[in-house]
Amino acid sequence: MDTIQNLDQHVATSKTDIIRSLNQQVATEKYGKSQLLSSTLETEQKKSFNTSAFCLSDTAQPESEVDKEGIVNCILLQFQEKCEMAMKTVAVIGAGVSGITSTKACLEQGMDVTCYEMHNDIGGIWYYTEHSRPDEGATVYDFLMTNTSREMMRFSDFHFPSSAPAFPRHREMHAYLHSYANKFGVTKHVQLETKVIALQKSAGHSSDGTWIVVTQRKGENKKETKEFDAVIVSCGFHRIPNIPEIEGFSNFKGEWSHSKTFKSAKPFTGKRVLVIGNANSALDTATGMADYAEKVYLSVGQGCWVVPRLTNRITYDTFLLRRWHISYLGILDRKWRKVCEDYFNHREAGIRASSGPIHHFPTINDDIGSRIACGKIKVVPRTVQFLTNGVRLEDGTVLQDIDHVVFATGFQPDHNLLVFIIF
Ligand SMILES: Cc1cc2nc3c(=O)[nH]c(=O)nc-3n(C[C@H](O)[C@H](O)[C@H](O)COP(=O)(O)OP(=O)(O)OC[C@H]3O[C@@H](n4cnc5c(N)ncnc54)[C@H](O)[C@@H]3O)c2cc1C
Ligand SMILES: NC(=O)c1ccc[n+]([C@@H]2O[C@H](COP(=O)([O-])OP(=O)(O)OC[C@H]3O[C@@H](n4cnc5c(N)ncnc54)[C@H](OP(=O)(O)O)[C@@H]3O)[C@@H](O)[C@H]2O)c1
Repeated sequence: MDTIQNLDQHVATSKTDIIRSLNQQVATEKYGKSQLLSSTLETEQKKSFNTSAFCLSDTAQPESEVDKEGIVNCILLQFQEKCEMAMKTVAVIGAGVSGITSTKACLEQGMDVTCYEMHNDIGGIWYYTEHSRPDEGATVYDFLMTNTSREMMRFSDFHFPSSAPAFPRHREMHAYLHSYANKFGVTKHVQLETKVIALQKSAGHSSDGTWIVVTQRKGENKKETKEFDAVIVSCGFHRIPNIPEIEGFSNFKGEWSHSKTFKSAKPFTGKRVLVIGNANSALDTATGMADYAEKVYLSVGQGCWVVPRLTNRITYDTFLLRRWHISYLGILDRKWRKVCEDYFNHREAGIRASSGPIHHFPTINDDIGSRIACGKIKVVPRTVQFLTNGVRLEDGTVLQDIDHVVFATGFQPDHNLLVFIIF
């Protein structure tokens, strides 16, 4: 692909020229649409109708007058497409990371967008409140920081402020999302406290593809119905807790919860807690509780490989996720293993997974090694049976007097939206 940075050098393509060309009705059929349509606009260049930076396939390199006119046609077609897009109405469901960036992308194409968010602020999982909100999915807890470095998780066209740490805390992440939404004019397109309660195909759906979106504002009985050309579903996927079926669960008399509702470790002060799971929520919950609870057991399934946020004095993701590592997965696996084993002895700690790190979702935690080393957390095998006040483990060990069990066992696939789509 050849990028033509200054198309002006090849052909006069100011907006006036385009309009003039439009008036002249440059015959698109004369120059063949296939070549024109094969040209690609770079996403970034779609932002504005900037004629000086199109990206064309190399077959469309302008050499002759005919080619130049072809390029003008190409621009005209894209201009027309853009005008057509501009008339589209789009509903975006949810104003988390996915929803706000989808709204921005539609606005950049000149579409008429309405983003519906059921809560009173944007941010999705990054909007922290002390108490659970009705209908909320998983959200961050009070001590959570990102487990991906700011450079890896930022939007490609929007930096974190230079004052932000390498791994932003949840409040900084939320503030970042607000700045992004404000900068790109997303905020004014978000309707807060408005829940999408149904999505229906319109009467004309089979011919024009339109949808009916039914919404309800918080505290109101009235339902509003609006038709849209397109709908983007971005309502999150950490909503339905996965609670594994474990024998005797109904006999257990202690308290239990799922990591989805975990907000703070303080309420676990003085308790004997069993955390089930071996991924990020399990390790974070266990390490957070270790400072408050009397005892924390971490019951692992397949085990895991734990990597600290900083490796070789840089963030683990910039160190490990390099292009050549990813190209040679064997190398990545060996490097990753070394980083984990340098951090603490996984086999001794009882947490080591049998297959290599590349076969597991990355588990990032800075504190688990020391908490295990000083006995605040004891790693135990898989829980196979619940007893009245305790549990039996895979190796036959019985843990008695468990006050609280936290299932940090992930989420089920969320087909919620399919449920409320009425065909
Ligand atoms: C505890 C936790 C920590 C995480 N940490 C990281 C991390 O450090 N780095 C990383 O890269 N990823 C992390 N993730 C993954 C995270 O899910 C994504 O980073 C991302 O934030 C997900 O954004 P989303 O917009 O898809 O969904 P969500 O953030 O869940 O947003 C969905 C939004 O849709 C709204 N909504 C839902 N249904 C409706 C409806 N019917 N009507 C109107 N609004 C609706 C919700 O209120 C919510 O605001 C983490 C996930 C969890 C659970
Ligand atoms: N920023 C942060 O610090 C942070 C903190 C928490 C979560 N998160 C993110 O939130 C998302 C969800 O993470 P999550 O940890 O809640 O869910 P998850 O990644 O889906 O992990 C669920 C874990 O539960 C385990 N499990 C299931 N049944 C089990 C059983 N019977 N016994 C023992 N273990 C069992 C699974 O183990 P098996 O593999 O053995 O099946 C799996 O490791 C991820 O994207 C994660 O990165 C981020």
